[in-house]
Amino acid sequence: MRSPSEVHLRLEHVTKRFGETTAVNDVSFEVPRGSFATLLGPSGCGKTTTLRMIAGFYDPDHGDIVLGGKRINELPAHRRGTAMVFQDYALFPHMTVKENVAYGLRVAGVPGADRERRVHDILQFVGLGGLGDRWPNQLSGGQQQRVAVGRALVLEPQILLLDEPLSNLDAKLRVQLRWELRALQQRLGMTFVYVTHDQDEALSLSDWIAVMNAGKVEQAGTPWEIYYHPRTSFLADFVGAVNLVPGTVQKLTGDEAVIAFGSRAIAVRVPSGLALAVGREVRLCVRPEALALRPPSADPDGVRLPGVVARRAFLGDLMRYWVTVDGREWIVDQPDPGAAADFDGPVTVAVKPERIHVIAE
Ligand SMILES: Nc1ncnc2c1ncn2[C@@H]1O[C@H](COP(=O)(O)OP(=O)(O)O)[C@@H](O)[C@H]1O
Ligand SMILES: [Mg+2]
Repeated sequence: MRSPSEVHLRLEHVTKRFGETTAVNDVSFEVPRGSFATLLGPSGCGKTTTLRMIAGFYDPDHGDIVLGGKRINELPAHRRGTAMVFQDYALFPHMTVKENVAYGLRVAGVPGADRERRVHDILQFVGLGGLGDRWPNQLSGGQQQRVAVGRALVLEPQILLLDEPLSNLDAKLRVQLRWELRALQQRLGMTFVYVTHDQDEALSLSDWIAVMNAGKVEQAGTPWEIYYHPRTSFLADFVGAVNLVPGTVQKLTGDEAVIAFGSRAIAVRVPSGLALAVGREVRLCVRPEALALRPPSADPDGVRLPGVVARRAFLGDLMRYWVTVDGREWIVDQPDPGAAADFDGPVTVAVKPERIHVIAE
């Protein structure tokens, strides 16, 4: 058995420039074998460029790409053991589904009978058995996406690269296909490197996420680490709604810090690896669902922040409140509005210190 933490893909100080633009700027990361790894970031941050360098479509200006312990910078794309699913699927419109899937095998010189068997098996595998003779324009968006995945998988790659494969689909189908892709990856035990700008998609699919911003990796880790222990405000904000409250370190004892904010102070745990000093400007990072609303007279556990409801929005699965506390708006999410108390006017925002994460940049 392979150790689950074995590194399958490694980028070391990879940089790519297009003229004046540094699309990817000194990027390093390691992807464990058999994991669903995601590059997440806003449009233009360098995700596609990174993926294309792994695939061998672009040469890096600096740095190394190491796959399975072997440096592959000089290997041509078709000899890397990678296959790519493109954002727009890039199906050949003048070829049937079968011919699209067979194309790569034909180019690789796989003999006819073997080719037919592999195409047949893959079409069954991706749920397109029986549609092999259709043309791409006779397929739904979801089916086209499956052809694109089948066309990549039929090459039996070591690693599958997927560039925003769900972004052209409508919301409901996108969510459904997420689970299909995840199930597929687990069935194959294959390393997937997936690119998306959608944080829900990244959080729900991935074993590992690297969040990119302006050509750099801001942070890499499990979805849990990225969501609850972001190291930067950009990252905290990018992966979901968040309260980022400015404060100052007032006192330090062991791994605890007292942070002054507004007219109050709160004792919180210092994240490991974060060097704080008294007087340092920080941000308290609190997810809206980690806060609770109580009547103004309540005396909940933890810290009470007296505030006033400024506005609220019914989002179906939750009620989002904006509550003014010390002249600053806090976002507070209350689950299950159908069963929860409704608040207006003066309230108490209750927060447990262990739900507060400190960011210092
Ligand atoms: N072939 C290219 N020529 C010139 N600039 C490019 C090229 N490809 C990407 N870029 C630029 O590099 C940056 C990163 O692009 P890209 O990797 O496509 O980002 P993402 O996939 O995250 O949206 C952008 O500023 C983009 O305009
Ligand atoms: Mg892109």
